[in-house]
Amino acid sequence: MGLKTLCLGIFCVIFLSYIYTPIPDNIEETWKVMTLDAVAKASTFMATCLENVGIMSFDEFISMIIRMDYTQPISDENITVTDTAFAGIPVRLYLPKKKSETSRRAVIYIHGGGFCFGSFKQRPFDFLNRWTANILDAVVVGVDYRLAPHHHFPAQFEDGMAAIQFFLQDKILTKYGVDPARIAIAGDSSGGTLTAALTQQIHSDPSVKHKFRAQVLVYPGLQAIDTYLPAHQENEHAVVLTRDVAIKLLSLYFTKDAALPQAMRRNHHMPEESRFLFQFVNWSALLPEKYQKGYVYREPVLGISPYPLSALMDSRAFPLLANDSQLQNLPLTYIITCQYDLLRDDGLMYVSRLQNVGVQVAHDHVEDGIHGALSYMTAPFYLQLGLQIRDMYISWLEKNL
Ligand SMILES: *[C@@H]1O[C@H](CO)[C@@H](O)[C@H](O)[C@H]1NC(C)=O
Ligand SMILES: *[C@@H]1O[C@H](CO)[C@@H](O)[C@H](O)[C@H]1NC(C)=O
Ligand SMILES: *[C@@H]1O[C@H](CO)[C@@H](O)[C@H](O)[C@H]1NC(C)=O
Repeated sequence: MGLKTLCLGIFCVIFLSYIYTPIPDNIEETWKVMTLDAVAKASTFMATCLENVGIMSFDEFISMIIRMDYTQPISDENITVTDTAFAGIPVRLYLPKKKSETSRRAVIYIHGGGFCFGSFKQRPFDFLNRWTANILDAVVVGVDYRLAPHHHFPAQFEDGMAAIQFFLQDKILTKYGVDPARIAIAGDSSGGTLTAALTQQIHSDPSVKHKFRAQVLVYPGLQAIDTYLPAHQENEHAVVLTRDVAIKLLSLYFTKDAALPQAMRRNHHMPEESRFLFQFVNWSALLPEKYQKGYVYREPVLGISPYPLSALMDSRAFPLLANDSQLQNLPLTYIITCQYDLLRDDGLMYVSRLQNVGVQVAHDHVEDGIHGALSYMTAPFYLQLGLQIRDMYISWLEKNL
């Protein structure tokens, strides 16, 4: 009891010290956003302290909090919900109960959580996937994958791939009554990273018979070879996701070595031989003027303290690094970006790159949006903004899938 009370007490003090952190004026629901930002920042601070004194690692502490929000697969009057596995990968299936004359649409959903956290079991994702199944009368598959830092890249990508390839088999689609021509894949944040990478792979692999009709990327992260984009500078201390935390989690995706986040913070992590990749993330060419503001483009200096990791140059980790001929094959794409988001420019640059090669792209930018809004659709941290993004997502799928 002693330790728990002490922790709670310390948490409250830290929480109060963060609660008056100013947020941008045009963000609605000011108090709710300030509260959840203070909770996020206090949790991060505490996780860092516990890690520094050697009680538990940063990711263990945050995981512990996130796991409190896991749900059981509970069926309701419209949808049968079951947890099962596709090729050994855990999935949660949402099957509409109503009889259908024709085969149904399907949505595969890849959850976010910085590659280190989360599951389709989290209340907001369970809520979203059930909602999708209900409104679209679609089969929905929430996919889990092994998490960092226990499992590094490309385990997450490989798990996603295994589950998708299992699902896309004729016999499985027939079993669940899915129309092979109407399957979409979607994901938020790091789930958006995986979604973009998996879609690139599926659509460039001639051995995969059924492709996606569409992909949806909600505030995705798509590169980290340049960590000084205008969005990184503007949103260094943004609500929920700060530059420090993003770099920490992203580093854990690849390695536990603290040299990588250190090099990334200074934007010194890339080697000389990666020079040709910078054309793909060149924000002075790819970012609409309006988002460049007064920032001046400087080519990153390469080879200062490069981190010896070929994964940093791999488009399965950073989908923006794919070249134009790889992007050409992509299906109809919907991207949602948020103004007050560290990852904003990744999504905006992907829109430009896809448009440049003639891929059909729909894009919505949420002017008062914050990163992770979809994770705030259920009590106790409930935002209208989360529901607004949910509705944009669902209505786009309703029209385009
Ligand atoms: C089931 O579907 C009906 C009709 O669409 C809807 O009114 C009801 O709220 C749904 N029930 C649940 C639990 O979502
Ligand atoms: C980035 O784009 C600018 C033009 O907008 C160009 O002058 C510069 O050479 C480009 N740099 C890279 C690395 O592609
Ligand atoms: C694009 O990348 C693919 C896969 O890495 C490669 O096979 C291909 O040669 C590249 N195309 C161009 C034009 O660079």
